Amino acid sequence: MPHVVTQSCCNDASCVHACPVNCIHPTPDEPDFHTAEMLYIDPASCVDCGACVSACPVGAIVPHTKLADDQLTFLPLNADFFAPQRPKPPLLAKVTEPLRVRPADEPLRVAVVGSGPAAMFAADELLTIPDARVNVFERLSVPYGLARTGVAPDHGKTRQVTDLFDTVARQDGFRLFLGVEVGRDITHEELLAHHHAVVYAVGASSDRRLTVPGAETAATATEFVAWYNGHPDHAHRTFDLSHRRAVVVGNGNVALDVARILTRDPESLADTDISPLALDALRASAIEEVVVVGRRGPAQSAFTVAELTGLLSTPGIDVVAEGLGADPVTDGLPHSTVHKLRMLRDLPEQDGTRRRIVLRYLLTPERVTDTGVAFVQNELVDEAGVARAVPTDRTEHIEAGLVLSSIGYKGRPVADLPFDDATGTVPHDSGRVIDPGLGTAVPATYVTGWIKRGPTGFIGTNKTCARETVHTLVDDYNIGRLPTPSTDPEVLERLIRSRTTTPVPTP
Ligand SMILES: Cc1cc2nc3c(=O)[nH]c(=O)nc-3n(C[C@H](O)[C@H](O)[C@H](O)COP(=O)(O)OP(=O)(O)OC[C@H]3O[C@@H](n4cnc5c(N)ncnc54)[C@H](O)[C@@H]3O)c2cc1C
Ligand SMILES: NC(=O)c1ccc[n+]([C@@H]2O[C@H](COP(=O)([O-])OP(=O)(O)OC[C@H]3O[C@@H](n4cnc5c(N)ncnc54)[C@H](OP(=O)(O)O)[C@@H]3O)[C@@H](O)[C@H]2O)c1
Ligand code: SF4
Ligand code: SF4
Repeated sequence: MPHVVTQSCCNDASCVHACPVNCIHPTPDEPDFHTAEMLYIDPASCVDCGACVSACPVGAIVPHTKLADDQLTFLPLNADFFAPQRPKPPLLAKVTEPLRVRPADEPLRVAVVGSGPAAMFAADELLTIPDARVNVFERLSVPYGLARTGVAPDHGKTRQVTDLFDTVARQDGFRLFLGVEVGRDITHEELLAHHHAVVYAVGASSDRRLTVPGAETAATATEFVAWYNGHPDHAHRTFDLSHRRAVVVGNGNVALDVARILTRDPESLADTDISPLALDALRASAIEEVVVVGRRGPAQSAFTVAELTGLLSTPGIDVVAEGLGADPVTDGLPHSTVHKLRMLRDLPEQDGTRRRIVLRYLLTPERVTDTGVAFVQNELVDEAGVARAVPTDRTEHIEAGLVLSSIGYKGRPVADLPFDDATGTVPHDSGRVIDPGLGTAVPATYVTGWIKRGPTGFIGTNKTCARETVHTLVDDYNIGRLPTPSTDPEVLERLIRSRTTTPVPTP
């Protein structure tokens, strides 16, 4: 009678720490934690105590007897992870080291820039220090970053993580300054003058763009997602939904999100947080088919099993996979990839009367045209164990009215900080910002989240990431590397009032 992790898991590992018998893996200190699509419960060891259920902020864990029909796939998915070759873990999970802070006359004061998941997990970790003060600065008028402006409106359970962030924000010592953009309304130096340290958790607010001819006429998934989630920078955009087909280039979880939002019954979104403007546009949409295109093969599909499962259980959408090729060799593939391939092969029968999503493979865009996208067909070659797409001389044109590129997000340079343009991240050592020219640490400056690791990972991945950064910060504080802020906290409030019209929160 095991419990089972299901699709709304966001990898924050709270359940790992709650489980008395260490049967949820990979744990944050196991090597595959950062690459795992989700966490899994070992049915052979689970004692059904239910502790993980209450620890999970998004309701992702259920006893196997309560799995809905469309969740049954998670039963073997969880169990298969513990195939015989996985070493048996010790019965007790490693207890994470609590923060130890040297005694000081003044409480530790930290500025956190951004209020997305990485910022909120960092704040939560810092607030375990007695008397610590955390001031969070967010450029938008709404907090929580992509947990609000990225997560799809029909992923209600995942969005519940914002309730957890509300709880963090209610703690003593926490203050949230909305509508304050660091680098525009207040400088890095000014923040340092008022805090022992500054942690940047600014995310990856730009996107990777296609560089092929005509690509400038295509919209990006980043813009489309921001639009349907009512992000203030994109809320009034328009997209051409008047043609029967849309093409999405890239096949990550974001691509599946936009394909699902474009094809599901708009009325089923009416009770969600979707932007009213987007809902009206979707109600008037003529789109009947969305083609999601990957440049490599099905085994390299960047979407996760959990997201594919969620898509298949969405009413009113047919999902079709074309170009799967011969039965692939699955030896040595990660168990989640084997499941994914099985699911793609065994997709449910099409209804034929419904909107549909077509998953296509081995196609690289060559040109965005007036009427769609011209692709070159690829073959896969194995290069030192990595499947690489190699173009052939065969081409194909897919007609579409709307073309969205969904090939990943990208970090933007942060004022006064070093930046690695190739990765779109700030160079760091365990979260401590490093000036690569000098090879030394930038004083009292730290990073966490997507601006530290690049734009991959789930909401909860930022928890272990933030924890590492906060431990580095506290180590530096303990050895006296962080200068004591020179000014009175009141001065900071006056400064912010003088620069913005945003109300300053009460302490
Ligand atoms: C479309 C989309 C859907 C996703 N859906 C899911 C999902 O369903 N489940 C899941 O587990 N994960 C999901 N993810 C992944 C998850 O959202 C990320 O892992 C997570 O949000 C990254 O956290 P972050 O704090 O680094 O960045 P963000 O969430 O981007 O937060 C950065 C914050 O910093 C603010 N900021 C930026 N610059 C400044 C500045 N100069 N001054 C002040 N504030 C600033 C921004 O406004 C923003 O609020 C999704 C990602 C995307 C892109
Ligand atoms: N529900 C959820 O849990 C959820 C929802 C949304 C996002 N997220 C997470 O957020 C992160 C970002 O997601 P994402 O979908 O933006 O990125 P992603 O998972 O990195 O997917 C990017 C896709 O773009 C393709 N691509 C990259 N460059 C390309 C090019 N030049 N031409 C054609 N295709 C190209 C990639 O193909 P290759 O593999 O061939 O490079 C891949 O298919 C991921 O970690 C994701 O899991 C999670
Ligand atoms: S039900 Fe109890 S034993 Fe089973 S995974 Fe959850 S916490 Fe662990
Ligand atoms: S969301 Fe967190 S607590 Fe819930 S199952 Fe996933 S890792 Fe465990």
